[in-house]
Amino acid sequence: MLGDRRNKVAAGLNPAAQATSGRLWLFALVGDVQGQLFQPWVDGDHLRSANFLVTGFDVCAFPRFDPVEVVSHPPIIDRALREVEAAGRAQSEQDQTAGITPSSIEAAARDLAQYLPPTPLQYSRAFTDKARCYVHIKIESIQPIRAFKVRGALTKVMRLHPEERSAGVITASAGNHGQGVAYAAAAFKIPATVFVPETANQLKVEAIRRLGAEVVPAGRNYNDAYLEAMRHVERGGATFVHAFDDPDVIAGQGSVAVELLRDLEDVDTVLVPIGGGGLIGGIALYLKETRPSVKVIGAEPVGADGMRRSLAAGRIVTLDRVDTIADGLAASAPGKLTFELAKRYVDEVVLVEDTEMLRAIRLLFEWEHLLAEPAGAAALAAVLYHYSPSPNEKVVVVLSGANITDEVMIRALKSR
Ligand SMILES: Cc1ncc(COP(=O)(O)O)c(C=O)c1O
Repeated sequence: MLGDRRNKVAAGLNPAAQATSGRLWLFALVGDVQGQLFQPWVDGDHLRSANFLVTGFDVCAFPRFDPVEVVSHPPIIDRALREVEAAGRAQSEQDQTAGITPSSIEAAARDLAQYLPPTPLQYSRAFTDKARCYVHIKIESIQPIRAFKVRGALTKVMRLHPEERSAGVITASAGNHGQGVAYAAAAFKIPATVFVPETANQLKVEAIRRLGAEVVPAGRNYNDAYLEAMRHVERGGATFVHAFDDPDVIAGQGSVAVELLRDLEDVDTVLVPIGGGGLIGGIALYLKETRPSVKVIGAEPVGADGMRRSLAAGRIVTLDRVDTIADGLAASAPGKLTFELAKRYVDEVVLVEDTEMLRAIRLLFEWEHLLAEPAGAAALAAVLYHYSPSPNEKVVVVLSGANITDEVMIRALKSR
C-alpha cells in the first residue's frame, strides 16, 4: 500500500517519469540515510527497490552494475512529501495495532501505579544454574488477584468514560480475567457480571464472587460463556471487557514490559505464556518498538496451541478441542488483534507439555518458594525444556499467576 502511494505521488510529481535512454531518475532513499547516494540495481530504465522514491533530477547511467554518477545538483527531496509519507506510515501502523503504542502502554503503567505497586523482578541463582542462562522471574503471582490480569481489567475500566463506567462491566472468563474485572469494578464501585463456563476452576470462581461480582454459570466452555455474555450486553448498558482482544486490556498487560525494562535494562529475551495472546501482545509491542533487539518468545501448551498454528498458517486457526492442565491458557484461538500483534512482534512460540509445567511448578516451589499455577509456570517450563539460550543471555520469564487448586499442586509436587 505504501509502495502504491509512493508511486502515485512520485508519478504525480514527475509525469515524465518514464525515463528515456541516457537519462534516469535517481531514486533517493527515504529515511535516515536520505541524501546519500546508492548504486541501485539498474535494469534498463528501471531501478528496483521498494525503499526508493523517485525525485526529479538527471543522472548519467552506465551499463548494468556500473556506478551511477551524479552530474547535477544533490537531490532535493520535497519535505512535504516526506511528511505525508511519514504520517501515512504512522497511521497505517496504528491501524494494525488498534492505536496501541509504547506511549499508551507507558500511560497505562503510570495510571496503574496508583492502584498496584510494580511487581518484583527476581534473579534466580538456582534456575540460572539449571537453564544455563541468567534467569529472572517477573512475579505477577503477588498481584492482589494472584495474576497479571488485573492490569488489563483496571486499565480498561479506568479508560471508560465515567458515564459508561457507571453502567457497569460484563465479561466472560474461565477465571483470572473474571477476577481482574471483579477487582477493577470493586475499585471503582461499579457493578460487574462475570459469565463463567461450568468447567471453570472453582477456586477462581469463588474468588470472583468474593470480590463482589455477580457470577453467571453459562455453558460448557468459554465460547458458550462468551456468547451468553454478549447477549446480555445487547440487552443492557454495561460494557463488555474482552479477556484479551481489546486495545486497552492489551495496553494494561503491556505495562509488565515497562516495569521489567526499568529493572533489567539490558534484558536479552523475555518468555511469556500465551492464552488468547493479550499478555504477549502488549509486552511484545512495547519491547519491539522500544528495544527491537530484545527477543520475545511465547509459551503455549501442546494441547492448546492456537497461536502457534495460526502463525504457521498465516491466518487465525480455531482448534476443535483444547486439552491442557493450564486453564489460563486454554484458548481455542487467538484474537484478531492479538494475532496481528504476534505476527508482527513475537519471535517464536514454543510448546510445553503439561508434565513440564507441573515440574516447573514444583521447582519454583522448592527452589524459590514461589507459587505458580500451570499457566504461570509455562514460560519457565519453556526456558527449562525447550529454549537453548546462549550462556550470557539475560532472560526474563513471566510468572503470570498462582491460582492453583490443591489437587493440581499435589500433582505438581509429585511430578518428577
Ligand atoms: C495465569 C495466566 N497466565 C497467562 C494467561 C494468558 O494470557 P493471555 O490470554 O492474555 O494470553 C492467562 C490467561 O487467562 C492466565 O490466567
